[in-house]
Amino acid sequence: MRNYREFLAEVLISEEQLHKRIVELGEQLSSDYQSSDRLVLVCILRGGVVFLTDLMRQISVPHAIEFMAVESYGSGARETSGHIRISHDLNTDIRGCDVILVEDIVDSGRTLASVLELLSTRKPRSLQVCTLLDKATRREVEVPVKYVGFTIPNKFVFGYGLDLDDLYRNLPFVGVVDEIKYKTG
Ligand code: IMP
Ligand code: MG
Repeated sequence: MRNYREFLAEVLISEEQLHKRIVELGEQLSSDYQSSDRLVLVCILRGGVVFLTDLMRQISVPHAIEFMAVESYGSGARETSGHIRISHDLNTDIRGCDVILVEDIVDSGRTLASVLELLSTRKPRSLQVCTLLDKATRREVEVPVKYVGFTIPNKFVFGYGLDLDDLYRNLPFVGVVDEIKYKTG
């Protein structure tokens, strides 16, 4: 297995920066949802899982967590088509709940748009998105993203939940891939 240092172009967001921002997001969410008695964080597998586990520990309002796994098809490994198939659905009914969708990154917005459309049919009391990263310039579909950790440039990133061909999600920082070194290594 290759060491990530062989193809890391730069550390875009350090472990310290991630922690600081997640503490801030946790404070903001704790304040915004302080009167909610049915708060549910819905994590989109697998990329959102590292962010979820850090974020939830910064939220002081009692809440449940749920997971959803979606596969997008008709797309390459680095692009999504927006046609999604739910491969793991929520285990509970979110009707009447305040739902926060926790995502690793919003790119074209297609995945998120499809998930939001589906979840809204289940009549939650409220539905908002909290994403760690936002590649805003790549947006093709307008999606309402209320909480954003970091807006980043259009570069392929990995680590802190985000994968490179299914690996390296465990890295504690967000790094930029040197595509040439990665492909030719
Ligand atoms: P969208 O449907 O185009 O917004 O794609 C969002 C999904 O694409 C994310 O949940 C990620 O799984 C994946 N993705 C987009 N950009 C990156 C990246 O730079 N690194 C890793 N995964 C990415
Ligand atoms: Mg994802």
